[in-house]
Amino acid sequence: MSRFSRITGTGSYLPPRRLTNADLATELAAKGVETSDEWIVERTGIRARHFADPSVCVSDLALQACLRALEAAGREASEIDLIIVATSTPDMVFPSAACILQNKLGNVGAAAFDVQAVCSGFIYALTVADSLIKTGTATKALVIGAEVFSRILDFSDRTTCVLFGDGAGAVVLEASDVPGILATDIHADGKYSSILCVPGHVSGGQVTGSPLLTMDGQAVFKLAVGVLEDTARAVLEKAGKTQADIDWLIPHQANIRIMQNTAKKLKLPPEKMIVTVDQHGNTSAASIPLALDVAVRSGKVQQGDTLLLEGVGGGFTWGAVLLDY
Ligand code: ACO
Repeated sequence: MSRFSRITGTGSYLPPRRLTNADLATELAAKGVETSDEWIVERTGIRARHFADPSVCVSDLALQACLRALEAAGREASEIDLIIVATSTPDMVFPSAACILQNKLGNVGAAAFDVQAVCSGFIYALTVADSLIKTGTATKALVIGAEVFSRILDFSDRTTCVLFGDGAGAVVLEASDVPGILATDIHADGKYSSILCVPGHVSGGQVTGSPLLTMDGQAVFKLAVGVLEDTARAVLEKAGKTQADIDWLIPHQANIRIMQNTAKKLKLPPEKMIVTVDQHGNTSAASIPLALDVAVRSGKVQQGDTLLLEGVGGGFTWGAVLLDY
């Protein structure tokens, strides 16, 4: 009998501090940085984002999302044998956020590691977990996207600091004799590493290079729309499906214009796309599982629906997962 992987529960968590565009504009104005609700909404579709308090780490956000996902799946943390955290803002250089999260969950013995593929991180992590379940290495996984991007934002750079937020999303992925995940597709092209990066690193007890995010927004925009269409078509082809089979498109929530462009290229009506970027901003690796959980809990996504999840981000990385929920 074939072995597949299937999502059995979803969860998410947003830190309580919510800033509307107007709130952020007021904070930035005090630092001499000018922006407006009108500019941010028109260019990005973002209306609000959440920022974690300084004492809160990625593993804290991930923990809350995991507890909700475990409850939805009817599972205990002790039953999990694989924990993968997709993040670019881990608690420490090492150990991984996944190991720190594992301890907070009270789980002992599961394999635990981080995946670093920036905004495509959750797609990469889900692909790895699917493979480990299919090969019999794991049976019940927690796959998480969690970020505190507020820690790496340059609040003197209005072209980037208005775009991002903090949060976490998680799924329980279990072995199943029915699919589940139908196909996955992941890629990278490292020659574009400099268009979106945090170039600093720890060296000799100090940070060498800037520890803050820098981005060529227009270059990112152009690359993103192309690869999102390519990976969507590739994953559909691998699964022997067409656009007509998609019930919900859940893209990385970076910018409403990139998202609308992708839906249009796939000839999907806008009503078939889950949108949370307006309320969360770009939460990088957390954005897809956050949007998935919002869609499940609002009753939009129903058991048996076919979902196309897809992401793109720094690296440059991109990919898609097609699944029956
Ligand atoms: N508030 C007010 N004005 C601003 C702001 C701001 N926050 N930011 C930039 N401006 C000004 C600029 O200074 C410029 O002014 P000028 O014409 O007087 O020089 C003007 O607005 C236009 O700036 P551009 O950078 O050309 O604006 P653009 O239309 O390209 O929009 C944006 C910028 C929103 C970043 C766009 O390029 C974009 O969406 N890129 C995709 C990037 C993205 O989504 N990244 C997310 C991370 S990657 C990922 O997740 C896939």
